[in-house]
Formats: sequence, structure tokens, C-alpha cells
Amino acid sequence: MITALNKFVYLESLNHKDTVMIQKVVVLGAGTMGNGIAHTFAQNGFGVSLADISEKALEKGMKIIETNLGRMIQKGLISEEDKRSTLTNITTCTAYNEVAGEADLIVEAATENIELKLKIFKELDELAKPEAILASNTSSISITKIASVTNRPEKVIGMHFMNPVPVMKLIEVIRGYATHDTTTQIILELSERLGKVPVEVDDYPGFIANRILIPMINEAVYSLYEGVAGVYEIDTVMKLGMAHPMGPLQLADFIGLDVCLSILNVMYDGFKNPKYAPCPLLVNMVTAKKLGVKSGEGFYDYSESKKAEKISKQFLRV
Ligand SMILES: NC(=O)c1ccc[n+]([C@@H]2O[C@H](COP(=O)([O-])OP(=O)(O)OC[C@H]3O[C@@H](n4cnc5c(N)ncnc54)[C@H](O)[C@@H]3O)[C@@H](O)[C@H]2O)c1
Repeated sequence: MITALNKFVYLESLNHKDTVMIQKVVVLGAGTMGNGIAHTFAQNGFGVSLADISEKALEKGMKIIETNLGRMIQKGLISEEDKRSTLTNITTCTAYNEVAGEADLIVEAATENIELKLKIFKELDELAKPEAILASNTSSISITKIASVTNRPEKVIGMHFMNPVPVMKLIEVIRGYATHDTTTQIILELSERLGKVPVEVDDYPGFIANRILIPMINEAVYSLYEGVAGVYEIDTVMKLGMAHPMGPLQLADFIGLDVCLSILNVMYDGFKNPKYAPCPLLVNMVTAKKLGVKSGEGFYDYSESKKAEKISKQFLRV
């Protein structure tokens, strides 16, 4: 599973003067997505610096990577030696200005906040080598907007990994308005070398994954709000009728209702189309801090188990 440490991606055939050889990767943010992204690159032989402003987040992130590698050993997917070399390939730091200059590729997976991302990319543009590619794992923020604060918009791209990163095969590769063909090709090839399946999409609100998923969730919330059916019925129809592994309301709880609302608002603002207007019930639940699994309650009650076995008392039908 593990390949040589000096594995690289190099697209000589494209004959682009700034073509970069990707060996050293910096991942910004060690949270849910960042630690999975660092894990995936390191397991495939890339040297990774994992940077986060929080020492605690780095410690937690490294623990999660270790636990996940342990699980992979138990499943017979990797060996003890693979685990050791993956961990050896990762170093951590709390200041990305110390490592950004060494990177051929920087993958930003910091908190989903537009002001924060614009500030980070402005800084990264000054710190990174001129030929380095800057990628964002954002779920909803415009890649074109992020690229616009840099002096290298042609080398800025979206790499939208799915959660949990080491397991999920898809990478949505998002081309900003100015992203160069060479940048896109390098990232598509790199994604395949990570054992993933990349899919190229243009930069419009929600990209493809969330543009289709989040309105489906919103429609499920509307169906509940209008009393067409209950939580159990809505999720069961989609699980047993459409073979979805999880019903849309359970999935919304898993993603976080605040995240679903924020993505809907990005699409509503971006397209100026009322079909993306968030359901008032979803807005109310977020205001009441019923955010799903992470807050202990959403459409389901997670006080005893995280398996969505108990419907929240708010939605019990008599
Ligand atoms: N969670 C998901 O299912 C999911 C799926 C796809 C994409 N995303 C996207 O991935 C990104 C990260 O999401 P997450 O769920 O991992 O968030 P998270 O809250 O778990 O982690 C974010 C991390 O970023 C760190 N951070 C904040 N500011 C920073 C900075 N200036 N420099 C370095 N680190 C910084 C925080 O300390 C935190 O550890 C977001 O853009 C999100 O939209 C999330």
C-alpha cells in the first residue's frame, strides 16, 4: 500500500513552464477533514506538514490518524510497517508560516469561514514558492473568490475531499474561473495517485455534491415541517426506497444542521433563486442550537447513542 517516500507527480508532457513536482504537502487545519487529508497523503508516500493554530487540535488529529491506521491493520488493509511509515511521513506545527515555503502543494482545511479563508490565502500566496499550488477543501466558498486575493489565481483550485477522507473515494476537483488547465491536470493525476476518484466540476455555488445533496435535505425538512410525514417515515422512504445508506434527516444531523443551513444560504445568495430558501424549521433548530450529533440533538436524540435510534421528542408523533 505504501509507495516510496520520494513519490512525485510531474506532468512533463504538459510543457508548462511552472509545472510543479509534488513531493511536499502542507495541510492547514487538523480537524475532521485535515487529519484525514494528512493521513491519506502520508499513507501514499508524500511528506506532510500538518499545521493548526491549536496545539490541542494537532494532538487530537494525530491520535485520530493513529487510531484509524490501527483499524486499517485490523481489517487487513495495511501492515504495521505501513502504519509506522505513514506516521513518520507526518510532522506537525502550530505556525504555517514556518512550513508553507517548503510546500509544492498546500491543502487548506481550516474552519469554514470566508474571512478566515481569504486571510489565509493572502498569506499563503506571499509565503509559498511561486510554482506551488494552493488548494482549498471548502464545502461551499467560491474558489474564484478565494483565488482573487492571491497573485496566482491560475494555481488555486478546490480539492473537496469527503468525510471520512481515508475511506471515501471521491474528490470533487473544482476549477475556479482562472484555474489553469495544467493545475487541474496535476490535481486530477495527484488525486488518482492517492487512490481516489477525482471528478472535475466548475465553480458555482454548492459545486455538484452539495448542490444536489443539500436541497434534498431541505426538502426532507420541509416535508417534516408541513406534516407530510414523520422523521421515521421520511428517513425510511429514502433508505428502503432509494437504497440510501442513511435517511436525509439522519444525514443532516451527521453533517451538522448549522453546516447545512450555511450551505443553503450560500446557494440562495449565489443563485438568487427561492428554490434554495432554507426551511424555517431548519433555521429555528439552528437558532435553538439543536445542531444534530455534535450538539446531542437534532431530528434524533443522541444523549444515549450516536446511532440515530431515538427520534427527538420534538418530533414524536402521537
Ligand atoms: N466536516 C465535513 O464533513 C466536511 C466535508 C467536506 C469539506 N469540509 C470542509 O473542510 C474544512 C474543514 O472542516 P472540518 O469539518 O475539518 O472543520 P473542523 O472544525 O473539524 O477543523 C478546522 C480546524 O481548522 C483549524 N484552524 C482554524 N483557523 C486556522 C488557521 N488560521 N490555520 C490553521 N488551522 C486553523 C481549527 O483549529 C480546527 O482544528 C471546511 O472548509 C469545511 O467546509 C468539511
